[in-house]
Amino acid sequence: MPDVERSIYRNYIDEITPYEPGKPIEEVERELGISNVVKLASNENPLGPSRKALRAIRHVLQKIHRYPDGGSFYLKQKLSHEFGVSTDQLILGNGSNEIIELLTRGFLGAGDRVIASEMSFLVYPILTKVCGGEFVAVPMKDFRYDLKGILNRIDERTRLIFIANPNNPTGSYVTNDEVEDFLSKVPRDVIVCFDEAYYDFVNASDFPYTLFHVKANKPNVILLRTFSKSYGLAGLRIGYGIANARLISYLNKIRQPFNINLLAQVAASAALDDKRFLWRTRRLIQREKLYLYRKFEQFGIHYIPTQANFILFDTGCDTTSVFEALLKRGVIVRVMKAYGLSNHIRVTIGKRSENRALIRALRQVLKLKKSK
Ligand SMILES: Cc1ncc(COP(=O)(O)O)c(C=O)c1O
Repeated sequence: MPDVERSIYRNYIDEITPYEPGKPIEEVERELGISNVVKLASNENPLGPSRKALRAIRHVLQKIHRYPDGGSFYLKQKLSHEFGVSTDQLILGNGSNEIIELLTRGFLGAGDRVIASEMSFLVYPILTKVCGGEFVAVPMKDFRYDLKGILNRIDERTRLIFIANPNNPTGSYVTNDEVEDFLSKVPRDVIVCFDEAYYDFVNASDFPYTLFHVKANKPNVILLRTFSKSYGLAGLRIGYGIANARLISYLNKIRQPFNINLLAQVAASAALDDKRFLWRTRRLIQREKLYLYRKFEQFGIHYIPTQANFILFDTGCDTTSVFEALLKRGVIVRVMKAYGLSNHIRVTIGKRSENRALIRALRQVLKLKKSK
């Protein structure tokens, strides 16, 4: 019997640890019999979706018996104007996750290598292994991507490098100077993917402008953005990639013909027009980030300064029981054991009421006293 199983299943896939998403609110409420649960676990937008996006969805509901436009014509037009690139430099994905998958499927053969940092987005190693590739996790320096360390690990088997900037789960970033130096040294036959899912939350003035490299027609650079975070459309699954036309047409060959559903196309289009919503989102995150920084400092909690809509902090103890105790108090957070951090928690920056609930629960669970 086991022999038969061995011949059906691929070892390198069997060995993958599946991605564990944040717990859904409904599940926690049902299991614990509580209500008003606050979810700060998946870096979603605390303001919900844009009203313009909702209106656009309502308008097309009666058309969902038709297949969507497989080329997402109107949305690509909008993005092309937004970024000053041609539509053939754009690819859309079922979440930017799908574009990460297209990159690994498109460029990796068995034994090929992908490099990223340790403590970075867990989907990179998973999708690398799915393709039979080998994942190289370069140690961080001070909770930041070490681009020089990554350069040192490039060899003839390296095909792809992922740079999550800002990085999930640390919220840290690499600077423009670091990226310029890095790109001047990376071989042109290695694809460099800048995963900028949290780009809209950045306020660091030395954050790199990677679009410049795409516009300069660098053959091996792609950047990824998403509608899941700042645009509040995580449930619709839509993200996009920008690169030179050759790379994009290559990726388009391997995507599903209707990978972007109708509702996602119209909602994303409308959300792009809703600049006020984006502005409100950014303002809320900046303000609430400072609120949480202040509270963490008052209670002597060590956190990592963030450029994203989440904060990683050190609880000073193992988080297994902390997570459960916070859950019982109606607050869902993310533990970081899968990243090798047993004492850290990552929280999404929420609305003031949600952040207050978090601090209240943390004070009780960690028995915090004001140190300032
Ligand atoms: C660094 C990073 N990249 C990509 C994604 C995927 O986003 P999407 O919802 O567009 O698939 C996430 C989501 O958490 C992320 O943290």
